[in-house]
Formats: sequence, structure tokens, C-alpha cells
Amino acid sequence: MRIEVDGRFTGKFVSEKDFTGIAPEVRKAVESLRAGTGKGSSMLGWLTLPRDYDREEFARIKAAADRIRKNCDIFVVIGIGGSYLGSRAVIEFLRSPRHNELDSGSPAIYFSGCNISGSDLDELLELCSRKDKDVSINVISKSGTTTETAVDFRCFRALLEKKYGKRRAKEHIFVTTDRVRGTLKKFADEAGYETFVVPDDVGGRYSVLSAVGLLPIAVSGIDIDKLMRGARAAMRELDTDPDDFMNNPAYYYAAVRNLLLRSGKSVEVFVGYEPFELMFSEWWKQLFGESEGKDGKGLYPASVNFTTDLHSLGQYIQDGQRTLFETVLEIVKPDSRAKIPNDPANIDGLNFLSGKMLTEVNRTAMKGTLLAHEDGGVPGIVLKLADRSELSLGYMIYFFELACAVSGYLLGVNPFDQPGVEAYKKNMFALLGKPGYEDLTDKLRSRL
Ligand code: PA5
Repeated sequence: MRIEVDGRFTGKFVSEKDFTGIAPEVRKAVESLRAGTGKGSSMLGWLTLPRDYDREEFARIKAAADRIRKNCDIFVVIGIGGSYLGSRAVIEFLRSPRHNELDSGSPAIYFSGCNISGSDLDELLELCSRKDKDVSINVISKSGTTTETAVDFRCFRALLEKKYGKRRAKEHIFVTTDRVRGTLKKFADEAGYETFVVPDDVGGRYSVLSAVGLLPIAVSGIDIDKLMRGARAAMRELDTDPDDFMNNPAYYYAAVRNLLLRSGKSVEVFVGYEPFELMFSEWWKQLFGESEGKDGKGLYPASVNFTTDLHSLGQYIQDGQRTLFETVLEIVKPDSRAKIPNDPANIDGLNFLSGKMLTEVNRTAMKGTLLAHEDGGVPGIVLKLADRSELSLGYMIYFFELACAVSGYLLGVNPFDQPGVEAYKKNMFALLGKPGYEDLTDKLRSRL
């Protein structure tokens, strides 16, 4: 297995008796997921996606990515939530957060439509309008109606039509949306844009291994065959007897985080020790936050990046309210070669570190922190990922999706809907004067 869960640092907080107690619930949760009888069971396409994905579309994704890589200097991904977090997380994890500066053979990849910031949009439009820059865009929206995405798509479409003319702009616009329904699909078909599909039975936050994530990931030069192979291995290896859940990392992780919640630890902090994991934490937060935070239930998913944040939030974690536990990502075989040089003068007194790899020092910081936090009343779950590769990341994505679904069922919620997301949209539309919202507009304005 490419991922192992080490529960050593939770031993003081959950007992064997707790695990025995939760065992029948784990079995029930896994069985209803596997049998498709649980809440939201029409949205289980992600469960078999690594095996059953559309091969013809996969080939089209690779072909489009090759064309974009050859013809473009800039590739803009327009989407929000599950429509961008997965691809951005994978690109930064496997390439680098600095991929645009470092990857000379690939187009620069930017993400737009993931906020309503005018200044962010101004900057990106300015960059893309430069004469010497060839630009392609991929607009991604399952519903096709998300405001942030639709607004930015309008702006970039206008830019491309100005740059290339309406007819040639088509070759620079790629649309990922619902197979048949929705405004965006209709619009794309009429305009003649190449389209890719968000499968009906796969929700946004579970969609990174569909065209939603795969086209941008392939454009970055990452091997999507290997990514899928890793996920497929996870799909196979993590489908085990739920009664043996202690030996299944996904089921065990779901169980232990639920037990910690029951013991009063209501905030789960995802801890990375590498800056390239920052966007992965964002993907993880969305996956768990939108899947579990409903009906007054759920762990609050937070994240930190150490050792950076040991000099800011570290104080709170060590010493603040005792409602936290940590889920720490450890990469077993790190890929950095950076070493601390020797200095005969030793004025800084650092020669005790001479010749040591940074990765070794980083791991030591992790161990020391886990112990300190355990002493401070903060349990730690350690996820040991084999290495920083496509195979391992594909494995880990599937691992978290599976764990999240089981965990949601353990909580008794539907892990595949997001009714809470609608509330802000309704108010925003009403306040912006969208037709059909008139009654609400008056009510809201009177409260402001
Ligand atoms: O996980 C989800 O379903 C959401 O985060 C969506 O991905 C997000 O709201 C964007 O929706 P859409 O793809 O319909 O534009």
C-alpha cells in the first residue's frame, strides 16, 4: 500500500474499547457505501472511476493537452470549488507551487473564476492580452451556472475573440461540463468548443480524476496514466472486509477521526511539512468540509504548513483550546537533495548540523512537534505516503475520497450534497437584483 496510517499519537485519546465500540458502525457505513444503499447513493461514480473511466475521452484529453502544450504560453483554468481545487493541488504537489517559473517546457497555468476579485482578474487579463502570449482556456463547471466561473468565462472569451477573432478563438476554448444538460453545454455546442464531461454521478469535490482535473493536470506535463494507475491500486487494495477495518488505512482513518470527534476534538488540522502540499490541504479541506459539515455535524477541517506555521499557529495548537487534533502528512521517501554545508568558522554554532539533509531535519521537526503536541493534549494521526509521485498521489486522492465517504456515513450525513452552499448565492443574487429574487431583495436590504 502506498499509504499507511500511524495511530500511535492518538493512543492516549482513543482506547481499544472505543475501536471495538465503533466496529459495527464502520461495517454498516462501508456496507451501505459498497451496496449503494446509503444517503446520496446516486453520486458514487468516483468509487469506480479509476477503473471505469471513459477511455475515448481520456485519449482526447491527452491529445488536447499536447496541442495546448505546443501552441500556448498561458493556459487559464476557470472554475471554483471542486472544479479547480483538485487540479491545482495535483499540479503544485507534483510539480511545484512555482511551476510557472520552473517548467520551461509547459505553458504557464493560472487559475481564475475561483473568487470575485476584480484586481485578480485585471492582472490575469492584462497578462493574457500581451501580444507575445498565446492563450488557451478551460472553463470548468458541472452546473454551468456558477457565477464566479461564468463571469470570468465571459471576460476571457471576449479577450480571446479580440486576440484571435471569433472563428479562431474556438480552438483556444475548452469546456468541461455536464454531459447533456445545462447552459454551458448548450452554449459550447452552439459555439463549437471542444467539450469534456463531468460524469453525472461524480460531484465536484470527488471529480479530480475525471476530465475536471485531468485536462489541466495533463497540460502541466504530469503523467495522468500513472495518476490513474495509483488511484486504481487504491481502489483495489482498499476494498477489504470492513470487520478488519484496523488494517484498512481508509476505514481506520475514518474511524479514528470520528472517535476523536466523539471525545470532544471537533477541529481536524491537516499538517503538511512541505509548501508543495499547501493546495493539497485546500483540496482536502473542501472534500471534508463540504461532505461532512451539515445538519449541525462534522469536524471543522483546518490546515497548517510546518515548520512555517509553528511560528504562528503553533502557539495555539500547543496551548490554546483543547479541541484540536492533527492529521500529519509524512512523505516516507522525500525527493530533495538539499544539504547543510559545513563552515569551519562555525560562528553560527550550526556545525552539529553539517552534512545533514534538510529532509532529515524536517522529519526531526515533525517528530519533535508530534511529541510536544501530544503532551499538550493534541492527538496526531500520521499518514505515511510512500513518495512524491503520480502513483502515490493518485493513491492518496482515492484514499481520502473513500475515507471521507465512510466518515460521512459514520456521522449520519449525506457526504455527496452541499445544500449549505446555496444560502450565500441566494442572498447575493437577490442583492444584485437578479430577476426572480425581488421579494428577498427587499427583505435583505432592510437588514443591511
Ligand atoms: O464540490 C462541489 O460540488 C462544489 O464545490 C462545486 O465544485 C463548486 O460549487 C462549483 O460548481 P460547478 O462545477 O457547478 O460550477
